[in-house]
Amino acid sequence: MDLGIKGKKVLITGSTSGIGFACAEIFIQEGAEVIINGRSNETIEHSIQILKKSYPQSIIKGICADFRNKIQIDQLINNLPQADILINNVGIYTSESFEQTSDETWMDMFNVNVMSAVRLSRAYLPEMLRKNWGRIIFVSSECASIIPADMIAYSTTKAALHAVSRGLAQICVSSNVTVNTVMPGSTLTEGAVNFINEMAMKNGISFKEAESNFFKNVRTSSIVQRFLLPNEIAQSIVYLASNMASATNGSVVKLDGGSVGGIF
Ligand SMILES: NC(=O)c1ccc[n+]([C@@H]2O[C@H](COP(=O)([O-])OP(=O)(O)OC[C@H]3O[C@@H](n4cnc5c(N)ncnc54)[C@H](OP(=O)(O)O)[C@@H]3O)[C@@H](O)[C@H]2O)c1
Repeated sequence: MDLGIKGKKVLITGSTSGIGFACAEIFIQEGAEVIINGRSNETIEHSIQILKKSYPQSIIKGICADFRNKIQIDQLINNLPQADILINNVGIYTSESFEQTSDETWMDMFNVNVMSAVRLSRAYLPEMLRKNWGRIIFVSSECASIIPADMIAYSTTKAALHAVSRGLAQICVSSNVTVNTVMPGSTLTEGAVNFINEMAMKNGISFKEAESNFFKNVRTSSIVQRFLLPNEIAQSIVYLASNMASATNGSVVKLDGGSVGGIF
């Protein structure tokens, strides 16, 4: 099946690891030109080298920017004035009580999780509309709906993305530009592996048992009762970015293993 994204220029924020990196690999397999982003040239270069090894003919570039820093975002936009597909993937979180979450943490999370997506969408959407083709995808989280008590700030930023995404879709009336949001569930990225390993060591149990306990005791609503793989999330993101998904606009797509619940 031809996804129709060969040669499209794709910026994936926060793509040196995790879900973003998994997206980069699939976009490359589909012949898209991929721009990898992270906070340091070292991690970007490392990611590009890994991808180039497997896909030597591919066009992969890197662009360094820390989304806590507006000047660095402006520089990113100056260096990359146009993108056909924007994956607003970068996201940071803390697990702490509401009382202990400082203003600085709230603002950091708001800048990275929400304002990065706002600023980049504002920069790239007008040209997408002029060319009458484009894709913007926001990576939210199951937490936008579940709202764990120790992740209120994170969950709030993810819920905010849903409003930005829906609002932008409504600007795209009668065009071939789509704007959608995905809601991943708990996914086995490096951070999750470290978290499960810590739980396993602390309780003298295996990795599998620690994973199973997380779903029995914490993410009880998950239907799949396992961590999702970055690739499972990335496949759906790339599908939404493709021509195959032209009927999906202004939507929220759950990639949560069933954790969010409800029938819509
Ligand atoms: N993993 C999950 O269980 C899960 C579940 C639901 C939703 N999500 C969402 O999915 C998205 C990806 O999550 P992930 O777990 O794959 O992430 P991750 O593994 O933690 O990936 C981190 C990436 O973000 C980059 N990054 C971190 N802070 C940054 C900043 N201030 N500026 C620029 N880049 C920054 C890192 O780059 P460098 O380290 O190279 O600088 C790296 O490329 C996030 O929005 C997250 O909220 C994740």
